[in-house]
Parts: sequence; structure tokens; C-alpha cells
Amino acid sequence: MEMDNKIIDESIQGQVLKFETKNTSGKKLFLESYGCQMNFSDSEIVASILTEKGFSMTQNFEEADLIFINTCAIRENAELRVRNRLNDFKRVKKKNPKLLVGVLGCMAERLKSQFLEQEKLVDIVVGPDSYRDLPNLIEEAEDGHKAINVILSKEETYADLTPLRLGSNGVSAFISIMRGCDNMCSFCVVPFTRGRERSRDPDSIIAEAKDVFNNGYKEVTLLGQNVDSYLWSGGGLKKENLSSEQQAAATNFAQLLEKVALISPQLRVRFSTSHPKDMTDDVLHMVAKHTNICNYIHLPVQSGSSRILEMMNRGYTREWYLDRMAAINRIIPNCGISTDIITGFCSETEEDHQQTISLMKEIKYDYAYMFSYSERPKTLAERKYKDDVAEAVKKRRLAEIIELQRMNSGIKTLLGIGQVHEVLVEGFSKKSNEMLMGRNSQNTVVVFPKQNYKKGDYVNILAKSCTTSTLIGEPV
Ligand code: 5AD
Ligand code: SF4
Repeated sequence: MEMDNKIIDESIQGQVLKFETKNTSGKKLFLESYGCQMNFSDSEIVASILTEKGFSMTQNFEEADLIFINTCAIRENAELRVRNRLNDFKRVKKKNPKLLVGVLGCMAERLKSQFLEQEKLVDIVVGPDSYRDLPNLIEEAEDGHKAINVILSKEETYADLTPLRLGSNGVSAFISIMRGCDNMCSFCVVPFTRGRERSRDPDSIIAEAKDVFNNGYKEVTLLGQNVDSYLWSGGGLKKENLSSEQQAAATNFAQLLEKVALISPQLRVRFSTSHPKDMTDDVLHMVAKHTNICNYIHLPVQSGSSRILEMMNRGYTREWYLDRMAAINRIIPNCGISTDIITGFCSETEEDHQQTISLMKEIKYDYAYMFSYSERPKTLAERKYKDDVAEAVKKRRLAEIIELQRMNSGIKTLLGIGQVHEVLVEGFSKKSNEMLMGRNSQNTVVVFPKQNYKKGDYVNILAKSCTTSTLIGEPV
């Protein structure tokens, strides 16, 4: 992903994940996904369940028998994009009344009645924990009934299902290690749309990672809303409810990381997302200990103002965050760092905003995903605070931090020139089939002449020049 992709709202970029399947039932599924990596990972579970039932995947919605749209609710514009898309599908349905349209994912719970009853936009509504029920729900809908299941589970992790790796480059795979979130950041709708946090059995995670490695993949990214609170004790209990013996026997995130890293030195391990309040030195030491765990941490700060962080219910202050950054720099020298920032949260003053700017200047992130605050229904902020920063002010502050980040990214990339980077090749560069692209451990994109190298190779590249976010070099 290039810097330019990172600073626009990724949740509004719908993507059809490409995958060819044998057509066995004659029924075709068109599946489009929005939002975060977790949603894309869920779509791979959905595709796995439905291809098992005989559906084949199509990339053309006009020829589909079933259209599923896996939705994101994190910001209002993500929801608006989905609504527009549903109207496109409604037009196709007029021509083909047998076509079934379904909404999956984070918008399902909130908008179920609107979608099904008021607007009659869709036939099927399924929340993120109910994908196993999809075959039944499709049958219900085929019989002309309203098909809905938005029940959130405390246990479901889809641990036993093998995702169908959609749209993958064959090098890098995403593995979900936990679901849901218990943090209740006041701006965030995720705890309401994805339910309670639960960790997945480490044995099933290791088995999945081994399986992708045996199928030629060279990198896995372990996914969770807050990977640092990963804990498997067998009984699904949270740390505070475990006896000291149970705690000692449980697998925490640092231990899970090591188990995955030990599969093979040829398998790179990445993870996302870390939480500043929970990220322990143990995790950092584990990253430092294994060269195949990448030196890259995505550590969302959200704001540089302790007052705003408190209102956001993030569980840390600016000073605490800076202490975690110092720990990263101490334990993992040369670690790539990225973050998420929200501008214009309730009551944010110019001074709060300047604190975010000064924090960014101090840390100099390699990348940042930046957003203006969008009030979400049911959240603590919606109930407790006024969304009182004018839209124009939010946008101006957003533009300021984007500009600052562009400069910082440029500086960080420049620092890579003259150094040798171990690059895992992902494919051809965007601009030329004579050039390959991959990433270094810090997640910076590196481009170099193809020669005899190919996808999946590790190549040492001496960086000689760069753009804002890409290093350009030669194999050494
Ligand atoms: N408004 C704007 N940005 C948000 N995010 C989450 N909720 C909101 C919201 N209501 C951002 C946060 C989070 C990222 C995934 O999306 O920065 O880390
Ligand atoms: Fe949302 Fe906070 Fe959970 Fe992230 S940690 S998903 S921002 S509630």
C-alpha cells in the first residue's frame, strides 16, 4: 500500500477480491468488501463457506445469482458508499428478480430493519458472527422469506474454517487471531458491530500459518482489533478471571508470536493492531529476538492531547504513549512505525490540535492513516459529548496533519537511501513489468530491476533513490 492510499479513507474503497473457482452448482456469487483488513479476512471465510456449498465466484455482478456486500460502519462516508452500491444492485435486481442481494458485516446489526423492511434494498442481512448460517439464510431467502441473523457471539472465531485466499498475491496472507473488541474507545462503533473480544485457539492459528507457508506463502499478518490483549486459556476467559495457575498456562500475544515465528525463518510475521495501553515490553523483545518478525508496529495514537485521549477513553496519556515509543526505539532499533489519527474530535481546540502536530513532529511516523471525526450511533461519544467542531475546521486540521505526514514520510524514506534492505518480492511494480516491488522489514515499499528474481524471493537491495514513500534500488 502506498502512502497515498493510506491517507485517503480506505473504508470507502470497495474491492472485489479476485478468485477463480470451479462452477459446480451453476450459481454465481459476487462478493465485494469494504473497510478494514479484518473485513477482508472475513470475506475469505464467507467465500470458503459458500464455495463449499457449490457457489462459484464471479467478478461481474451483472451475471451473479447472489451479491454480497461486506460492509464497514466505522465512519459515515463508508456507510454512504455502501448505500450507493446497494442502489446499483437494486437496478440489476429489477432486470433479474431472482437475484438475491445480501448485506454482511458491520452495518448489518444497525441497519437491518431499514435495509430489509423500510427500503427493501436487500434480501439477506448477516452480522460478522453468523457466517456459518449463510447457507440456511440463502435457502430461506430463495423461498421468499426475509433472512436475517445478526446475533453476536462470545465464542465464534471460525477457528476450524480454512479461508479462501481471495485477491491474494500468493506471498502474503492475513490470519485472524481474535475477534471483537472490549475497549470502548468513545468514538468507535466496533464494540457494537463486532461484539465482545475473544481469542482464537493458538493451535488452529499455527496450523493455518503452517498451511499457508506449505502453499508457498512467505508472510503472515496476524490480525486483531487489539492484538496485545490476545490471551488463550482454553476456556475463553479474560485475564482478570483466571487463577494464577491458569494465567501461567495461558498463551499470550508474545508467546503466540514466537510460535508463529518458529514455523520457519523463511516465513515473515507481521501483526496489527497494537494498542498503546496494552503493548508490553515482552512483545517488543519477541520482535527483537526473531529476525523474521518484522520490525514494524502500527500503534494508533488518535490524538496528541491527553485531555482528548481521556475523552476518547483510550486508557493512556500523551506521556504514556511517548514512553511506549521510547521502549520501541530502545528494544527494536530501526523499527517502522505507523499510526491512526482523528482530527476534530468533540471539543478539540486549536491547542489540542497543536499537540497532535507536535507529537507527530517528535515521533516522525513512517506512515499514518488520518481521519476527521465522524460521530457514530450508540458510541459513548455520541451519548456523552457534542460533535461540536465545525466540519470546515475538521477538514482544515486534517489537511494540516496530512501535509505534515507527507513531509515526515518523505524524510523517513530518504533515510533508507544508501542502506541494504532485505525485500520480500510481492510482484511487479505498478509502473513497469521490468521492475519488481516488495517491502522491507519496516514495511516500506522497495522497487528494483527484475533480473532473474521472482515473486516470493527474498532479495537484498541497496537503495539508491526514492519517492515520498518508495525506495528504488539495485540487488547486491
Ligand atoms: N471517526 C473517525 N475515525 C474513526 N476511527 C474509528 N472510529 C472513528 C470515527 N468515529 C479511526 C480510528 C481507528 C481507525 C481504524 O479508524 O483512528 O484507529
Ligand atoms: Fe475501536 Fe478502540 Fe476497539 Fe480499536 S481499540 S476497535 S478504536 S474500540
